[in-house]
Amino acid sequence: MIIEERKVFLSTLKKNQAGGSHAFWFMRQAGRYLPEYRELRSKAKDFLDFCYTPEMAVEATLQPIRRFGMSAAIIFSDILVLPHALGMKVWFEAGHGPKLVPLKTIADVENLSLNAIEDFLSPVYQAITQTKKSLPEGVALIGFCGAPWTLACYAVEGSGSRDYQSVRSAALRDPAFFTKLIDVLTDAVIIHADLQIKAGAETIQIFDSWSSVLTADEFSAYSIEPAKKIVSALKKKHPHVPVIGFPRLAGVRYGDYAKITGVDAVSVDASVPLDYIKNNIQPLVTVQGNLDNVLLAEDKFFALDQAKRILETLGEKPFIFNLGHGVLPHTPVENVEALSDLIRNWK
Ligand code: CP3
Repeated sequence: MIIEERKVFLSTLKKNQAGGSHAFWFMRQAGRYLPEYRELRSKAKDFLDFCYTPEMAVEATLQPIRRFGMSAAIIFSDILVLPHALGMKVWFEAGHGPKLVPLKTIADVENLSLNAIEDFLSPVYQAITQTKKSLPEGVALIGFCGAPWTLACYAVEGSGSRDYQSVRSAALRDPAFFTKLIDVLTDAVIIHADLQIKAGAETIQIFDSWSSVLTADEFSAYSIEPAKKIVSALKKKHPHVPVIGFPRLAGVRYGDYAKITGVDAVSVDASVPLDYIKNNIQPLVTVQGNLDNVLLAEDKFFALDQAKRILETLGEKPFIFNLGHGVLPHTPVENVEALSDLIRNWK
């Protein structure tokens, strides 16, 4: 990452530069742990309808900022709106998470169309433009996409899965089908991220939530290579828009991901030791992370203690405080509040 971009990145995400406090936001900061979110959510027909109603998406995006004063808002949407826009059948069942009619053959992949993304997802882009206008000055707006591999997991399995064995088998059994699928999803992510930036997103995060199930060679082919293509396409059009990559649970492969993809920052999950992050990842890119979301939900005292350790170890170099994964629905609001206060008041 060139120095100029790094400066832009930090100033974008740093709300309170004069005070020198750390940039922070939390994955799933808008969600069911907030009573005002549950209230808003109860008014929507279903989850996708919620995502596609700009006034609701704007309101959900702003709710955590009002309460906790994060340095960045992430637009309220979902990674699965993109396969939906490509023509896949997608729905959310209460208590069961996302469902899709799975893709099985190369003909299924050829039936996906990139042409409808802009119209189909126009409510998302409207929500971004509206949110940008409503956010307090200095609060950055983050757009996001699922990474091609993680989207392929849902597209082939038809739902979440314990080990993503069907999609891994499909990749080995039918490489023509699978590489075609990854290529289409990569192009789709580029289009969707570009449109989010044009609508007002100042940073893009790529969520590769399930990259950990891949072998080393597959990780290269299906996580690193597509991310590299996405970053390079976005940098051509928007050289100053930072990209954050999140290859969750990538372990020792975080370094290669940081070096090869060209992302400006990596979001690190809670399994990676702080000294390892400091010595092996932070010299390469800005680090975002990595407080355990389960600890935050279960034990305020130990969560704050661990947060201090994170700030002490990583806070001297370019760093964005976040969790290792999203805020869990049963997290007490007061824990999120106490954590936000701690970070905001850190010297
Ligand atoms: O605040 C934010 O982080 C922004 C909004 C956001 C949502 N989903 C809202 C949401 C973001 C960034 C996502 C990303 C997402 N969605 C990922 C990648 C991040 C990760 O968690 O690993 C994935 C894998 C999905 C797919 C998805 N969407 C699942 C598996 C589920 C069901 C899980 C659950 O918590 O019920 C969703 C639904 C979803 N997306 C909810 C929210 C707030 C809960 C739905 C509800 O309110 O009923």
